[in-house]
Amino acid sequence: MKKILVTGGAGYIGSHTVKRLAARGYETVVLDNLSTGHRDFLRWGAFAQGDLGKADVLDDVFTAHKIDAVIHFAASIAVGESVDEPLAYYENNVANTVQLLQAMRRHGVSSLVFSSSCAVYSPHFDGLLREDHPFGPLSPYARTKYMIELMLQDCAQAFGLRHACMRYFNAAGADPEVEVGERHFPETHLIPLVLQVALGQRPLLNVMGDDYPTPDGTCIRDYIHVQDLADAHILALHYLDAGGDSGAFNLGNGQGYSVREVLDAARAVTGCEIPVSVAQRRAGDSPRLVGDAGKAKAVLGWRPEYPDIREILATAWAWHCKETPPRQP
Ligand SMILES: NC(=O)c1ccc[n+]([C@@H]2O[C@H](COP(=O)([O-])OP(=O)(O)OC[C@H]3O[C@@H](n4cnc5c(N)ncnc54)[C@H](O)[C@@H]3O)[C@@H](O)[C@H]2O)c1
Repeated sequence: MKKILVTGGAGYIGSHTVKRLAARGYETVVLDNLSTGHRDFLRWGAFAQGDLGKADVLDDVFTAHKIDAVIHFAASIAVGESVDEPLAYYENNVANTVQLLQAMRRHGVSSLVFSSSCAVYSPHFDGLLREDHPFGPLSPYARTKYMIELMLQDCAQAFGLRHACMRYFNAAGADPEVEVGERHFPETHLIPLVLQVALGQRPLLNVMGDDYPTPDGTCIRDYIHVQDLADAHILALHYLDAGGDSGAFNLGNGQGYSVREVLDAARAVTGCEIPVSVAQRRAGDSPRLVGDAGKAKAVLGWRPEYPDIREILATAWAWHCKETPPRQP
């Protein structure tokens, strides 16, 4: 059995991954400071509450547990906030990853699966983004992911760190057993915002621009189910364990949905009206971000189980209804 340290395992994607690891017989240790994570998401494995930036906290975890590999989710994730507070993002995402890498080196742990993002790519492109697409991160958040990817390459060269950078497109949906799900404060992701409108928690959805060069004028994104993301991380652990080369993997469905298409699908899934209002474009939004995940499929053997946007929405809806039951008419 392998023991995996999961940083940020009390968060949205981390908690789903811990659940899938536990189901496959891995032992897990979550390190999380609960800054945006949730205690009720810590349902499997061991938990160490503490900050990634503290060398003594990391040393305690690596000493108490014989860790075989690390999956690193812990980060600050709000793009808009990163524009206003770039130093906080460079500190929590980049500087604290340096602390993690130093601790891994001190304790002889050499395999890392890292949460990167499609935001590292230059966004001006109409086709399917592949891993060799040029970099062009637009926000401080995206630049932290880019900088960490470069740092991991340097560490691989210098002292043999073995890593897989998982470049997610838009994580969405929830655990089909409805034990964990998406809970961000403030929420900035489209699908939970749409479902919060359906639940009557928000009056309407602000569509940020409908004059993009796309068929219906709204931005197109590639949505990937959170459980499919979780499974890709486990496949990446196997791959590194089997001696696979370090590198990056896109995780998306290869199919784009516009904001209006997501709204229509959400209306069909929820049976709710979901009013909208059209607002200004948001700075830095690309018209279209859709990924080619052929490498993850060919090299890791990854097969997304929930490629259909309606299935993704249905699992998210089940979670949001559990969090806040819909109002009776
Ligand atoms: N949600 C998405 O669509 C998406 C897309 C691309 C990449 N990502 C990346 O995936 C990862 C997880 O995202 P998420 O949506 O689950 O976010 P989240 O906010 O739900 O989870 C992040 C977790 O990290 C913890 N954390 C943050 N800083 C920490 C620190 N210094 N020490 C210890 N714990 C700390 C938080 O408490 C939280 O539990 C992040 O790295 C994010 O950048 C997410």
